[in-house]
Amino acid sequence: MTRRDVLRLGAVGTGIFATGGLTRVAGRATAQAQAVPTVDRLVMTNVVDNVYDIFAKGGKLDSITVERAGLRFGADSLLAEHGLAYHLDSVRGSERRQILLDFSLTERNLFNNYQVLKVDPAAADALIISHGHADHYGALADYARFVQGRTKPGLTLYAGGEDTFCHRVVATPSGSIDQGQLDRAGLEARGLAVMLAKQPAVVAGHAITSGQIPRLTDFEKPPAAARLVAGLMDSACSVTHFGATKVEVKPGELVADSFQGEHATAYHVRDRGLVVITSCGHAGVINSVRQVQKATGIDRVHAVVGGFHLAPAPDEIVAKTVEAFKTINPDYIIPMHCTGLNTIIAVHGAMPRKLVMPSTGTRVIFGA
Ligand SMILES: [Fe+2]
Ligand SMILES: [Fe+2]
Repeated sequence: MTRRDVLRLGAVGTGIFATGGLTRVAGRATAQAQAVPTVDRLVMTNVVDNVYDIFAKGGKLDSITVERAGLRFGADSLLAEHGLAYHLDSVRGSERRQILLDFSLTERNLFNNYQVLKVDPAAADALIISHGHADHYGALADYARFVQGRTKPGLTLYAGGEDTFCHRVVATPSGSIDQGQLDRAGLEARGLAVMLAKQPAVVAGHAITSGQIPRLTDFEKPPAAARLVAGLMDSACSVTHFGATKVEVKPGELVADSFQGEHATAYHVRDRGLVVITSCGHAGVINSVRQVQKATGIDRVHAVVGGFHLAPAPDEIVAKTVEAFKTINPDYIIPMHCTGLNTIIAVHGAMPRKLVMPSTGTRVIFGA
């Protein structure tokens, strides 16, 4: 077994090199050694996104198929909002796996769209939350309540670190906007297992999470306005926990948010390469892609998908990101959610054949 075949992972709370499938050791979730999975086909459904464009063009491109939801009215309408949620449906041989990644902002929109798009939320084999912002976890507690007692046994939510469950705010010139706090204990009380996948992990035997993402580029920075509310000293949300040296920070005060526990999701699609999904991309879309390449030992990138969080970025950073995309040379770039028109225009200018515009309800079929 070579480095290319294996993700070398520290199991949660142990020093074992491992990935993936959960084992219960003294009531604690750990991970098991597992090869990097390759799927034959991935159907990625954009369940909720910022935009719902009934005129978005679909069809077969060189190596993917894009299906659009089109015009819908009444009970069949799709709802868009500032939020993100995916249904990831993969096949390897006769084995099918369904993963729900992120849970948008509101229960109304998420469950409306699950129903319209014929996604059965109770059929999930695993759940992934990218980071602790309300536009990604907003309806997760509602999800846990809705499926309680009806899920597959041991349904597990993969988070990238403790800070996913810390209280966040956005600091603006006119005051702080509360992002709330995802209640881990509340999810566990509804029967979900929570896995902190700080290292790369195999999810449901088909997908990969990146683990925490090293900041390699010098131009990708977390949003300047993002703040964590400091918790009690030595608690999971205390500043000391995140390595901050400002020990004078007291519980309840705001500290800059480095998004330590944000992670990306990826698939390796047979004969195509990696499909990397950043969700909100606070760690940097280029950093995220590089981490997935490193963790898997696979360089070929088929698609980069997700929010790249460049809407507020100056032109210089957008230009550097597009240059890095050229080096990575994915077949497709699908810029969703918080990416921003600035970056979409730049990608279109530099590599128009690679650009696929997102829309709520869109399905992209990767692989055979
Ligand atoms: Fe975010
Ligand atoms: Fe977001």
